[in-house]
Amino acid sequence: MKHWFVKLAAVAAAVCAVPTVYAQSLSIIPQPEQVDVRVGRLVLHRGMSMAFDAAVEEQAMYLRNTVYRSTGFEWKTGVPAKRADIVLEVDARKVPRPEGYRLTVDGRRVTICGHDAGGVFYGIQTFLQLLPPAVHSRSLQPEVMWSVPQVDITDAPDHPWRGMMLDVARYFYDKEFVKKYIDMMAMYKMNKLQFHLIDDSGWRLEIKKYPRLTEVGAWAGKDEKRLGGYYTQEEIRELIAYAAVRNVEIIPEIEFPAHMLSAVAAYPWLSCTGKQHEVPRQHFISRDLLCVGKETSYQFLADVLEETVELFPSDYINIGGDEAVYDRWKECPLCQAVLKREGLQQAADLQGYLTNVVADMMAKKGKTVVGWEEIIQRGKVNQPVVAVMWHEVKDTLQATRTGHKAILSPATHLYLDFPESKTPGEVKAATWMPPISLEKCYSMEMNDYAPSSTVLGVQGCFWSDQFIHGTVLQELPPIDENRSENYAEYLTFPRLLAVAELGWSKTARRSWTDFRQRVRSHYARLDHKECNYRVPEPEIVSMKEEGGKVRFELAPSVEGADIRYTTDGSWPHSHSARYTGPVEVDVKTDFRATTFVNSRHCSLPLYFAPDYSAYRQYGTFVAEWKPRQWADATGVWRFETTGKMVGNGTYDITFVYRRGSNALRLGKLVQYKRDERLAEVPMQGQVDAGHTAVTYRLPLTAFEAGLPFYVEVEAQPVGGDDTFGYVFVKKVE
Ligand code: ACM
Ligand code: ZN
Repeated sequence: MKHWFVKLAAVAAAVCAVPTVYAQSLSIIPQPEQVDVRVGRLVLHRGMSMAFDAAVEEQAMYLRNTVYRSTGFEWKTGVPAKRADIVLEVDARKVPRPEGYRLTVDGRRVTICGHDAGGVFYGIQTFLQLLPPAVHSRSLQPEVMWSVPQVDITDAPDHPWRGMMLDVARYFYDKEFVKKYIDMMAMYKMNKLQFHLIDDSGWRLEIKKYPRLTEVGAWAGKDEKRLGGYYTQEEIRELIAYAAVRNVEIIPEIEFPAHMLSAVAAYPWLSCTGKQHEVPRQHFISRDLLCVGKETSYQFLADVLEETVELFPSDYINIGGDEAVYDRWKECPLCQAVLKREGLQQAADLQGYLTNVVADMMAKKGKTVVGWEEIIQRGKVNQPVVAVMWHEVKDTLQATRTGHKAILSPATHLYLDFPESKTPGEVKAATWMPPISLEKCYSMEMNDYAPSSTVLGVQGCFWSDQFIHGTVLQELPPIDENRSENYAEYLTFPRLLAVAELGWSKTARRSWTDFRQRVRSHYARLDHKECNYRVPEPEIVSMKEEGGKVRFELAPSVEGADIRYTTDGSWPHSHSARYTGPVEVDVKTDFRATTFVNSRHCSLPLYFAPDYSAYRQYGTFVAEWKPRQWADATGVWRFETTGKMVGNGTYDITFVYRRGSNALRLGKLVQYKRDERLAEVPMQGQVDAGHTAVTYRLPLTAFEAGLPFYVEVEAQPVGGDDTFGYVFVKKVE
């Protein structure tokens, strides 16, 4: 049905060529710099031929194979450019900007001229986006009419760094998944992969000189039950070659001085204490740092980095550097001796010292050091480095002041391990900050603080600590062998498209309304790529409250998808009423509507959160109790406060009675960081119609981003369990 429609639409378009229609229907992401749409279309066919410069042979084969798989057209090669129907050339004079291209389609041929091989590759991507979405399919799509509008597109990236970080340390994704991730980045003209190979929970890179890094450090658990894995150097070479064709540079990240317990587990002498550790099976940020007082630590870094930079052709080497807590260095006589010898003030300065040692070492090898923002925040670094700013965009000014470069990767907008919504049923993912909707991600500020010469570009980060060796996501009943990979795609897409446009398109060319319109047609492309993207909820065009009724008008967020709805508050399924026009309901929250791409791939229903504004004085909603909840209770109620307690301080936790004729008696309250008991408030209280609120005051001194926080409170219904209530959290100091 869908294919038939595509074919009909293409034929109709070819017959009655009206340029404005095409202009509207071009939905290229990221938005190109200049697009001229001409009258008419070029129909592709099996008799076409290709010519290409030798420098882009691999890119030409990429195009030929992609088109062959879905269309069955086996384009002839080896014809002179003059006679070819598809021409790929490199000419830096015609296309002056790096990674830029010019794509022209006229009534006879397609010409892609790139500044470099990357530019040609990007011209190919734009060309593919002009074709029907089925072009991305790996199998023959015989029903499609393959035609493209006649266009003249001139394009180049606004920023040289359009990155993604993939955390393969907390969860080991095999080589094939990494290739798929790279391929999807490349489709949207992203060009840097920060390969997070090392963390407390896994060492993923074969280092010949230190075999225990992968014999021991790559595995959590024992024997056949062990989890993890690593990439051999041979596999790394294969990934690099695969990425290179797609203009993606893989930048290895070797984390230190923190986040390297996997190395310490393999070689305990790396840490200050020398204590033996195991590779953790759950999310965990180790306090054990690389000891900066032992000569062997420097030798280790020199050896590991030397093997790494020999393997990876990138001009950059990422040294991590985030989230070190310096207690071990404060207690270590060897580290303290270095501090004294170097005339440093405090343990934190030792990180700056170490960064300098390594940056000098790397400069000798012609490599520029990249790291998290901490690398420029722990004293003066002499070599110019690149800092990935993960807190505040305005901190790019620190990079400007100190002569370094910056990459924008604020967790608030570009950490794709946060879910897109708070809707019940959303995947459990990082919660230490609010969700990041597609719109929020797209709307990140660019370059508003530091000069653009400081800011190389943007980077999305995909952390896998929520997937680690069987915690949060894998608590779900087994639903699929590759569930973590599926979740990774769910969280990455469609937001990667927004990150790509942030990096590529000039701010003046970006508009959320326009992006939202263009992205609608990309889901079909992602389907053909077999990508498990998050299906967006239907768009609410209008919601009018009138005469005691609420009238909803919706639009599909996914081109060609159905919207199904209910008016009784239940979740729509694939046979619920199909939306065809405005719907009226009595109560807003009873209206639920879902996007169905097909019966197995659908969105969450539209969700209208209850209104807590009457309780604003108590802070943020965290939990609610309802009558039935106490029937088989143990007398202790546990609820999660992750994301609501977001730093050290003093918090008020308030239990608020809402309705019911009885009471709820409350006793001792205990706070937990996962299973670690942090604090206890030994109080008694009762909420009922007469005493509507009870507040516990709680100190928090051991906050840690990424870890789950819970509260347990003794709770007993009194007189009967018919009460309803809310719990709120408020930071008071
Ligand atoms: C980070 O999120 N720890 C860089
Ligand atoms: Zn030490």
